[in-house]
Amino acid sequence: MYHEDGPTLLELAEQALSSTDRGYDLIAPKFDHTPFRTPDVLLERAAKIVKKKGGTTARGIDLCCGTGAGVRWFRPLCTDEIVGIDRSQGMLDVARERLEDAPGEATITLTQGDAMASGFEAGSFGLITCFGAFGHILQEEEPKFVREVTRLLAPGGRFVFITSERPPAWSPSLWVAKGFNAVMRIRNAVIKPEFIMYYLTFLLPGARWLCEANGLEVEVISGAFEKPFARGKLVIATKPLKRKAL
Ligand SMILES: C[S@@+](CC[C@H](N)C(=O)[O-])C[C@H]1O[C@@H](n2cnc3c(N)ncnc32)[C@H](O)[C@@H]1O
Repeated sequence: MYHEDGPTLLELAEQALSSTDRGYDLIAPKFDHTPFRTPDVLLERAAKIVKKKGGTTARGIDLCCGTGAGVRWFRPLCTDEIVGIDRSQGMLDVARERLEDAPGEATITLTQGDAMASGFEAGSFGLITCFGAFGHILQEEEPKFVREVTRLLAPGGRFVFITSERPPAWSPSLWVAKGFNAVMRIRNAVIKPEFIMYYLTFLLPGARWLCEANGLEVEVISGAFEKPFARGKLVIATKPLKRKAL
């Protein structure tokens, strides 16, 4: 157990043996008491920097919004609407409750759907955020994900996320992550439906390269976060107002 109100080991095991979506439906009421929820201290800081650098926008979307962590902090950066999209209805139900007192004026729309194919029109959003969810996107799906983000961005719009560089070879966290990934690969080979969650995905410099390959201008901000998150890098990938001539 991570926290007295968090899930028990048995509940976590039940989640891990379910599909990704069913797993999140099960854990939703206790999700905010797990380390998988992006900490407010990171989101508050990220939102502050993003606002300082580029102000507000009419419409934003938080991809894989979960219980609404990103929506809460980025709502004040949107003047008209902020959308939270997630595949798990259970997570969205919790988000609806938790966001009742979220600061800001923008309309909050929570919708069940796939971040890889949200169905929104091209250029719909001036701000797209995604936190704590890259582990659910298989590495071979990352190019498709970034293409979809780029399609959704309005010219001048920003894609904001937090990632890091790969931990050095001597770092225990690298080997814990690799061990976890190995167990998940075995689990997914023998148990269906799969639970897609892997560490060490969408890291720098690969994530930067993917954004740039889609024409986004990337700013990587180091030193944005304090210990124990000091390795985290805030990334702001902006869609240029005009497409550059090739
Ligand atoms: C670890 S939680 C992170 C939630 C929230 N963004 C946060 O930072 O606390 C990951 C969320 O991603 C959602 N998810 C995973 N794959 C998704 C996809 N392809 N489209 C939409 N949601 C997805 C899960 O249902 C879950 O709510």
